[in-house]
Amino acid sequence: MAKIIAGVGTSHTPAIGAAVDNGKTAEPYWAPLFKGYEPAKKWMAEVKPDVVIMVYNDHVNAFDFKIIPTFAIGCGDEFPIADEGWGARPVPVVKGYPELASHLVQSLVLDEFDMTIVNEMLVDHGLTVPMTLLFGQPAAWPCRVIPLAVNVIQYPAPTGNRCYNLGKAIKKAVESWDEDLKVVIFGTGGMSHQIQGKRAGLINTPFDTRFLDGLTKDPEALTKIQPIEYLREAGNEAIELVMWLIMRGALGEAAEEVYRFYHVPASSTGVGSIIIETKEFHAQRARKSAA
Ligand code: DHB
Ligand code: FE
Repeated sequence: MAKIIAGVGTSHTPAIGAAVDNGKTAEPYWAPLFKGYEPAKKWMAEVKPDVVIMVYNDHVNAFDFKIIPTFAIGCGDEFPIADEGWGARPVPVVKGYPELASHLVQSLVLDEFDMTIVNEMLVDHGLTVPMTLLFGQPAAWPCRVIPLAVNVIQYPAPTGNRCYNLGKAIKKAVESWDEDLKVVIFGTGGMSHQIQGKRAGLINTPFDTRFLDGLTKDPEALTKIQPIEYLREAGNEAIELVMWLIMRGALGEAAEEVYRFYHVPASSTGVGSIIIETKEFHAQRARKSAA
């Protein structure tokens, strides 16, 4: 049976991708950030998932304002990299898993989450920057990726509570797939940031810290944060954090934080990164390292 073993929360700031692509990671502005991601990369290299479910948002690259799905699953064989204005990022094409993605759609729709099926789409920094941060710069990505795009661009965005419940349904869907697979789910975007308007540059570190704490201490409390509160407290683009609640909902009730990093700023963003293992996988890892 397929299993979600862990969740990764990470910001997806496009300037991070540009820093990697242009060889700037050792510069003083960037070095502390990349140092903070080293343990997360090491964890990923040890865990070696077969499949990543990447919960992310498109930034008007795959979808324009003609059609804006609230929740969309990429069911294609592969997903080319979007050109966001400076050419496509020099990262490998993203290989999908159409059979498993279609199974997720089947299960989720029967569970009353009306997913939009997307057979062809480009993927932008929302997906590629988290891949780079956790997997580095390989010639090919080491696992298959199922993109799950969430609308946080055109209001109304889904509530955190709806996202958390979608995560629970994703856990059930994955566990009903009859193939031994290790699945890691990402929740991406955030943390506090506002990239335009009078409050551009707003960062709310206490808000971000409470959010990171809540992921393991009391995720239900985080589901009560209303969309307007993300905007008011932590900036327009902080609404991206609802995607971290999809990740968290997919891990089951008890889960263990195994790594956390927080850094301000990268471009306009309060950058957060967290790794949370399911209770079962955490116990399994503990038994292995004791043996
Ligand atoms: C920035 C952050 C984002 O999440 C994004 O999508 C675009 C820009 C920034 O901080 O510059
Ligand atoms: Fe973003």
